Amino acid sequence: MDLAAVGTDVEKVIATEAELSAKILELAARVDADYKDKQVLLVGVLKGAIMAMADLTRAMQRHVEMDWVAVSSYGSGTKSSGVVRILKDLDRDITGRNILIVEDIVDSGLTLSWLTENLLSRGAKSVSVLTVLRKPDAATVKVEAKYVGFDIPSEFVVGYGLDFNQKYRNLPFIGVLAKHLYS
Ligand code: IMP
Ligand code: MG
Repeated sequence: MDLAAVGTDVEKVIATEAELSAKILELAARVDADYKDKQVLLVGVLKGAIMAMADLTRAMQRHVEMDWVAVSSYGSGTKSSGVVRILKDLDRDITGRNILIVEDIVDSGLTLSWLTENLLSRGAKSVSVLTVLRKPDAATVKVEAKYVGFDIPSEFVVGYGLDFNQKYRNLPFIGVLAKHLYS
C-alpha cells in the first residue's frame, strides 16, 4: 500500500522503503559477523516485527531458526500500559540458546526489558535485541538494544509492521500518524 492510498493519515514519512532496506542489510551483516561461530535463534515479537524479520533473515548469509512470541503492553490506544501479557509463547525450549529478539520499536522499553528477563529466566544463554526503531524515552530504561535501525522522535508512527488499531502494518515505509486520528 503506498502513500497515496493512505492519503492524509500519514503526515510525514520518516523512513522510506529504500532507507529501510539499506538499514536492514547493514544490520544483517552485523548480525552475521557477530554470530559467526555461534548458533542463533531469532525471536520475532508479533505482530510488529514481521516485516523486519522477513527482510532481515533474507539478507542474512547463514542458516537461521525463527520463533515468535506475541506480547501485549498496549490496549488499543497509543500509550504503553506497562502491563505485559504473553499472548503466544515460543514453540520450543530455549535452554542454552543464543537469542536475538527482533522488534519493531522500543518506546518506553517496558516490553523488551520484561521479555529479556523472561527469556533469561527460562535458561537462554544470551539475549540480545534488534529493533527497527527506538524512541528517546527508551534511553531511560535498562534496555540494551544492540542493533538499532533508526532513532526517531517521540511521535506515534505506523508502517513496516507498526500499526494503529491493527491498520497500516502493510505500508512499506514508516511514517508519523496524523494526530487527528487519535487525539
Ligand atoms: P514499549 O513497551 O513502550 O517499549 O512499547 C513497545 C511496543 O509498543 C512496540 O513493540 C509496539 O508494538 C508498540 N509501539 C510503541 N510505539 C509505537 C508507535 O509509535 N507506533 C506503533 N506501535 C508502537
Ligand atoms: Mg511490538
